[in-house]
Amino acid sequence: MAFKLWSIVSLVALAAVASAAPSRRTVCSDGTVVPDSVCCEFIPLAEALQTQVLMGDCGEDAHELLRLTFHDAIAISRSQGRAAGGGADGSMLIFPTVEPAFFANLGIADSVNNLIPFLSQFPKISAGDLVQFAGAVAITNCPGAPQLEFLAGRPNATAPAVDGLIPEPQDSITDILNRFDDAGGFTPFEVVSLLASHTVARADHVDPTLDAAPFDSTPFTFDTQIFLDVLLKGTGFPGLGNNTGEVSSPLPLTNGTDVGELRLQSDFGLAHDERTACFWQGFVDKQDFMASSFKAAMAKLAVLGHNTNDLVDCSAVVPQPKPAVVPSAAFPATKSAADLELSCNSERFPTLTTDPGTQETLIPHCSDGSMDCESVQFDGPATNFGGDDDS
Ligand code: HEM
Ligand SMILES: *[C@@H]1O[C@H](CO)[C@@H](O)[C@H](O)[C@H]1NC(C)=O
Ligand SMILES: *[C@@H]1O[C@H](CO)[C@@H](O)[C@H](O)[C@H]1NC(C)=O
Ligand SMILES: *[C@@H]1O[C@H](CO)[C@@H](O)[C@H](O)[C@H]1NC(C)=O
Repeated sequence: MAFKLWSIVSLVALAAVASAAPSRRTVCSDGTVVPDSVCCEFIPLAEALQTQVLMGDCGEDAHELLRLTFHDAIAISRSQGRAAGGGADGSMLIFPTVEPAFFANLGIADSVNNLIPFLSQFPKISAGDLVQFAGAVAITNCPGAPQLEFLAGRPNATAPAVDGLIPEPQDSITDILNRFDDAGGFTPFEVVSLLASHTVARADHVDPTLDAAPFDSTPFTFDTQIFLDVLLKGTGFPGLGNNTGEVSSPLPLTNGTDVGELRLQSDFGLAHDERTACFWQGFVDKQDFMASSFKAAMAKLAVLGHNTNDLVDCSAVVPQPKPAVVPSAAFPATKSAADLELSCNSERFPTLTTDPGTQETLIPHCSDGSMDCESVQFDGPATNFGGDDDS
């Protein structure tokens, strides 16, 4: 009896030693040093994403993959419980006809269909890992983006999330802050940090008459321009003026495929609400602070629904991003400090130059300045709300 008890104790002790085993440090074939060999698999995945989808560009496909990291991960709820959604679990890819068809996910089907082929190309990589890693790789093409943390080991999703967990641009700031808190305890500062993403973002569905309406004047660089542009007085709309979730922007001029800036009501609200205005304003022209704050908030977003003790730190396999453009913010041509509308009075606003030019800025449709650029779009099972499968 005493002996039996002793052997159970020793088994438990042995198990504890095994799980605390020293890291299985490995050198991948390209020389990258990682804590575990599972990380090495992501090196050819990064390569494949670049050559098959991203083409080294911070264009439409990169933007869509970044948005997907958010829409997959935020679909979790502390108040509604685990059945409501598993967070960063790749449920978008495993159940492609469910979540992408929710109204708030309009447009997400493109990125889902672009990632699904990689599940069979890399069968050891789970859908949740694929979504978060693809977003991290995508933004390395955007000058100024941080090298995101990447942990591997998310199990495949076992169920899709329920509808209603994705914030929408017409939601009140209280509802938006509550949703982020309910999803993962995000603070108002972390919410504003995550909105740095809208520096590489354009809307296709807010105004259905517009294709790729940018949220700031530099949608191909991960700079702080979004935080400046949203503080400029609105003067008009790039397309129709009566869309849900849209307010007037300072650069509405559209010419051909060069679409004017579109301002989300939610971005405007976060820039002016007393809970978030100083955080918003505090990122203007603070490239390093913005990038590091975004990185920290993304690290939290990317593991929603998981215990990080169950994951392996594979950050070493995330490629190096393109270096930042300097300066990271300037008033667009014809605009100046006189056009600012500020709601944070406790902080001094930085002194910025104005870009040259006597006419309102036209924002180029393509990262190379041209009006005609192709993006990659694979066919796949995911469809948008209403069964619409175009971009
Ligand atoms: C208050 C929370 C948020 C709201 C209400 C919101 C809303 C939107 C809307 C309406 C669009 C345009 C979609 C379209 O019409 O095509 C959009 C685009 C985008 N969002 Fe957000 N968003 C929020 C937070 C975030 C976060 C946290 C991220 C990432 C970390 C993100 C990344 C993006 C990206 C990259 C795009 C551009 C997609 C593209 O260009 O194809 N957003 N967002
Ligand atoms: C996850 O699910 C996909 C699609 O069913 C499958 O191809 C893949 O092998 C699974 N990955 C893991 C790690 O279980
Ligand atoms: C929005 O405005 C356009 C004209 O600017 C009009 O044709 C359309 O019916 C309006 N839509 C709504 C929902 O009011
Ligand atoms: C609009 O584009 C056309 C050619 O596509 C060009 O000739 C014209 O100058 C542009 N207008 C402005 C205001 O830039």
